[in-house]
Amino acid sequence: MAFIEVIGGRHLQGEIPIQGSKNAVLPILAASILHNGITRIKNCPKIIDVYHMIKLLESIGCIVTWEQDGLTIDATEMNYSSVDKKYVSSMRSSIILLGALLGRNKNVTISYPGGCAIGARPIDLHLKAIKEMNVQVIHSEDIIFCSTSHLTGAKISLASPSVGATENVILAAVKADGITIIDNAAMEPEITELCLFLVKMGARISGAGSKTIMIEGVKEFRDVEYTLVSDRIVMGTYLAAVAGAGGSVTLRGNCCKENETVINTLRTMGCRIGVGRDYVNICSSQQPRAVPLIETETYPGFPTDMQSQIMSVLTIASGTSLIVENIFESRYKTVKELAKMGADIYVSGKAAQVNGVAALTGCDVRAYDLRGGAGLVIAGLIANGTSRISGIEYIERGYEDISKDLANLGADIRKVESSL
Ligand code: EPZ
Repeated sequence: MAFIEVIGGRHLQGEIPIQGSKNAVLPILAASILHNGITRIKNCPKIIDVYHMIKLLESIGCIVTWEQDGLTIDATEMNYSSVDKKYVSSMRSSIILLGALLGRNKNVTISYPGGCAIGARPIDLHLKAIKEMNVQVIHSEDIIFCSTSHLTGAKISLASPSVGATENVILAAVKADGITIIDNAAMEPEITELCLFLVKMGARISGAGSKTIMIEGVKEFRDVEYTLVSDRIVMGTYLAAVAGAGGSVTLRGNCCKENETVINTLRTMGCRIGVGRDYVNICSSQQPRAVPLIETETYPGFPTDMQSQIMSVLTIASGTSLIVENIFESRYKTVKELAKMGADIYVSGKAAQVNGVAALTGCDVRAYDLRGGAGLVIAGLIANGTSRISGIEYIERGYEDISKDLANLGADIRKVESSL
């Protein structure tokens, strides 16, 4: 079983590029099946979740090829409406195909994506919304059958600003008859990115990135080539790594504005950070300061996907910090692994109190989810001695090569293929 080995204590320095955005490319890959033609996505990240999505697209008749600078999807022959169960259950975001499949087919069969380590991940908001668009939904155990004579636009008010539900409604609405208005829409940058892609393909959308999005259905789309934005969470992860390990680093990526809350939090922790249009510089030369309260919220609040990474840095901060995880119900699985390294964290419900300690000690730890795994890598960089992080298949869902990236910044880190 492969693992990541990291010997802590080194400062980070140098410059690396940030990969394309996982959470932007997944709905855009789903959107590509709405067009009976060719989609080209440049700066597409080579990560497990993308490979899974490609298998899903191929299982419904798309032809997908990697080229020099990205991915080409030919959806001309796409003519299936059922998604292979083995792929859906292996990845949450496959549910995002539902809206896009309804845009192409009158009948869609998909299986419940199921929960994961961070939560139950229900899809009630998705299904309630598409029912308002003249879609009949029948459940049987873990299979969902959806059918419609024709998709109709509707005024949809989401009970909570779910990213996935907002994406599914947009993907169904762009080819529906009439106008769809989404109230209480998610405002995450990935929604804006999806809408920019769809408009380039010929969709009519206004209000992307705000609480109210209006979509006017169209009949035809055109071939499109789209360059993906950099991954804001990967950038945030590496910024946190420098905050914890110390050093001076430049990250090249065009997602700095979308990282404002994370950057401001790191500044309050004592980091000096300069931001440009397509780069961010960070210097950290002292023990991080504690943060009295960090609450994860929907965008533009502090992102839940950065909670584990910032927690790792706060384990050695001067003082006590309080984290409140408001988005997912079980996103503290990393706490017991950090405790093995000497961290002093007390969890009660949504809250985690992090009492800074003088140092962490490297040891064998396990990742249980994507961002928790990234948090353990950061803890390994901070700790004295050697850490071995197993469960790296979670980390590789969202990071092209976290070991290579951090080694390029001077960390003593490598992926080890183990025959055990
Ligand atoms: C997206 O997940 C991201 N995934 C997540 O990133 C991210 O953490 C999340 O948005 C919040 O920003 C992708 O984009 C592929 P939600 P999604 O629907 O769409 C509840 C990562 O690490 N909810 O906004 O699943 C849900 O249980 C991943 O890259 C319902 O109750 O997030 C959760 O508590 C992790 N019913 C909250 O809303 C529903 O029908 C937020 O979920 C849908 C969601």
